[in-house]
Amino acid sequence: MFFLKKREIIGIDIGASSIKLVQLKRQGENYRIVKMGLAPLPQNAVVDNIFTEHSIIVSTIKSLMSQTSVKIKRVASSISGNSVIIRKIFLPSISSNELEEEIKWEAEQYIPFDINDVNLDFQILGSDRQDPDKMEVLLVASKKEIINNYVAVFSETGLKLSIIDIDSFAVQNAFEINHDVTPEEIVALINIGAGMMNINVVRNGTTLFTRDVQMGGNLYTEEIQKLTGNSIEEAETMKKSGFASLPPALSASIEKNNDIIAQEIHRSLDFYNSTANEERVTSIFITGGSSKIYNLAETISEKMSLPVDTINPFAKVEYDKNEFSDEYIREIAPYMSVAVGLACRTGEDI
Ligand SMILES: Nc1ncnc2c1ncn2[C@@H]1O[C@H](COP(=O)(O)OP(=O)(O)OP(=O)(O)O)[C@@H](O)[C@H]1O
Ligand SMILES: [Mg+2]
Repeated sequence: MFFLKKREIIGIDIGASSIKLVQLKRQGENYRIVKMGLAPLPQNAVVDNIFTEHSIIVSTIKSLMSQTSVKIKRVASSISGNSVIIRKIFLPSISSNELEEEIKWEAEQYIPFDINDVNLDFQILGSDRQDPDKMEVLLVASKKEIINNYVAVFSETGLKLSIIDIDSFAVQNAFEINHDVTPEEIVALINIGAGMMNINVVRNGTTLFTRDVQMGGNLYTEEIQKLTGNSIEEAETMKKSGFASLPPALSASIEKNNDIIAQEIHRSLDFYNSTANEERVTSIFITGGSSKIYNLAETISEKMSLPVDTINPFAKVEYDKNEFSDEYIREIAPYMSVAVGLACRTGEDI
């Protein structure tokens, strides 16, 4: 008799502004941090999952690996934005195996790219509530070209890409292992990064609606750069330096961009409300580096008339306090939801 060894894996999130690495160890129901690190990327090294600076991505991953001294070679990573299409579709009820055969034909009408240029994946969500002969399926199509670039980058660093996930689903994983919600609650999980915002409306572990919007912290930085004539790096530092220390024109520009982000969330959740035939969102959880922006959570809460909280990807994750201080964990938490969600896939048979 064989006991298959559950595979260990590291989560690596290649974001527009930095690369994050997390390795977790499963201990019963809980997780413990084994390794963790973050390495910044230069502006525009990654734009919408496209590596404009391939060699910089490779060298940044390498330095992150030596900095954290990880030994595991298998990687879970994720993509989002225009590289991936996620659709809920309704199909006649068939088995998962049958759908495996048919998905290509079924998917064709929903995918705006050549079907041969995408990798297809799906998840059967259950039977259609209105028509029991039909089932609801989450269709995920990702561009092969993008995935191939990810495979290439990791193989150049001596790693093997074993799982490719979607940013918003990784955030959902991190949320679910750390936050308790009742099965009836409908939460909108929103990851606000540098270039992208991932919105995912979830009930009881199932995605009801998801959308990526190409909008994030860069919006604020670029405007501060324009207003001050400073470099992007200086504008970035000013943005993070704290709202109170900024001249009125810059704090006004932050408030304006908060409105723009909140408006975009409003628009997406309105779209969900009007099309999904489901109940309304009951609360919002934000994460991503830009969730730290002064007054953003409050602005979203006001605009949506909903409570807004932040995801803590380490709420139930254990760690060695000598290695990671509580302050460091608090500081780094907003950046780490995707990587933690990816690292949770450790122990899966893959
Ligand atoms: N204290 C802060 N105040 C305001 N913005 C901040 C702060 N800390 C980080 N940010 C912003 O958070 C963003 C980085 O967040 P994150 O690491 O989640 O993005 P990313 O994963 O690199 O990008 P993306 O997900 O869009 O690909 C940057 O735009 C950065 O300026
Ligand atoms: Mg990100």
